[in-house]
Amino acid sequence: MKFYVTTPIYYVNDRPHIGHVYTTTIADILARYHRLCGDDVFFLTGTDEHAAKVVDSAVERGLTTQQWADQNAQAFQDTFAKLGLSNDDFIRTSQPRHKDKVQQYVGELLKTGDVYLGEYEGWYDAGQEEYLPENKAKEYEYKSPFNGKPLVRKKEKNYFFRLSKYAEPLLKLMEENPRFVQPDVRRNEVMKRIREGLNDVPITRTGVGEWGIKVPGDAEHTIYVWIDALINYLSTVDTPERIKYWPADVHLLAKDILWFHAVIWPAMLMALKRPLPGQVYAHGFWIAEGQKMSKSLGNFVDLEKIDRHVAEYGLDSLRYFLAAYGPLGANDSDFAEAKFISVYNSELANDLGNLVNRALTMITRYRSGNVPSANQMDLQADAERVCAVYQQKMSSLDLGGALEAWRGLVTRANRYVEETAPFKLAKQPEQSARLDAVLYNLAETVRLLSVLVAPVMPGISRQIREQLGIGEKIGGIGEELRWGGLVAGGKVGKLAPLFPRKI
Ligand code: MSP
Repeated sequence: MKFYVTTPIYYVNDRPHIGHVYTTTIADILARYHRLCGDDVFFLTGTDEHAAKVVDSAVERGLTTQQWADQNAQAFQDTFAKLGLSNDDFIRTSQPRHKDKVQQYVGELLKTGDVYLGEYEGWYDAGQEEYLPENKAKEYEYKSPFNGKPLVRKKEKNYFFRLSKYAEPLLKLMEENPRFVQPDVRRNEVMKRIREGLNDVPITRTGVGEWGIKVPGDAEHTIYVWIDALINYLSTVDTPERIKYWPADVHLLAKDILWFHAVIWPAMLMALKRPLPGQVYAHGFWIAEGQKMSKSLGNFVDLEKIDRHVAEYGLDSLRYFLAAYGPLGANDSDFAEAKFISVYNSELANDLGNLVNRALTMITRYRSGNVPSANQMDLQADAERVCAVYQQKMSSLDLGGALEAWRGLVTRANRYVEETAPFKLAKQPEQSARLDAVLYNLAETVRLLSVLVAPVMPGISRQIREQLGIGEKIGGIGEELRWGGLVAGGKVGKLAPLFPRKI
């Protein structure tokens, strides 16, 4: 099977922060999971470069717009590379391969009449570069809900997208396929707003200079940055070699930009007569130490802070924290230092680290490092149940649930050590077969844990497997998750603590 996952393409004006790193990390985990399942994966991220503010900031810095965009796009690419994110491509909307396709698709829509020339007047939020419908503008007292600045009454000749035509098809889609927009609360919000009515939307602006993509055949009009940006998901794979990946299986994003993804984008695809994505998943937000992250508070979990966490606790610990306690689902999550440290110490250093260390140390000490064979499979049923739950949770994007199941197996195995007390068995020669069984059950559970955790903590998974004396490479998930895969007689490797303890 193929699996195509996307992240939003990030505004090239911002410096990367935990929000961008989060969505991209979650996409990375899904990509790695599906690769493990043997799927043909395409994982896409990139930068959204044609916003008007990019032009302004470049001027302020005495750079050309392209130079400024290049610098910042590079910062995103460097950050993602440093964090080991395994995206298969990085699309920049200023690249010709994207611009050509945008013109092609808009050209198609002009032909069918789904895009037409008209006049628009409305309340414009300059900071967001979007018009607000009258009722919303009134609700916010004609001020931007994002930065509080007054909305501007603006009138312009524009090309419009015939969104009104797609209200019914969109509702039908969401009714028939409840998984199309997730989580459910978000889906309900979107459907409620569609039922309130959909107007045609302007998709071009005039007088914005050379930066951006022109309407084919009408160079006075520049395609609105959001329309340009959404198209990246298709433009990147609309080549003979890559079109097999379309439609995307999951568009990952946060709730701030759900409307564009759940309504405008599928309507555009309907108009283009292209297959629709499998799912639009809008997660919540990270806040920092209990407060919304904002420019004015200057409290972003920024790159410097991310680097510090990676240096101190390791990249995989950060990934684990993001996946286990992040805002997948409807709620926001708090990036709090104390919580991070406590998760690191208890779930990673104490529970997982100790289990691996105890199991392998005992094999080294009592069996000269050779994995014994077992005549009883005490942990098999528990392990199999956890593997099944984990797979089901991963497929439904419940990473927190998958890791909770995984943790359940760690806890079960640690309890098993207490219950069976191998250190006592080791002193009783007549219990030798029993000790063999206990050690095998532990080692095999550790092996399964290394497979399950590979998408989230690839480095830790590799280390566990090296210490267990099995190849770091993981085969197909079906085979790997079969109990009994660890061969008796194998030799464990050199042991080292996985997670040095922190105060
Ligand atoms: N350029 C548009 C997206 C176009 S996609 C066709 C954009 N860019 S953005 O740089 O503002 O990125 C927004 C996305 O970054 C969110 O949807 C989310 O994926 C991520 N995050 C930004 N801040 C976030 C948090 N505080 N918490 C979690 N993720 C958030 O919008």
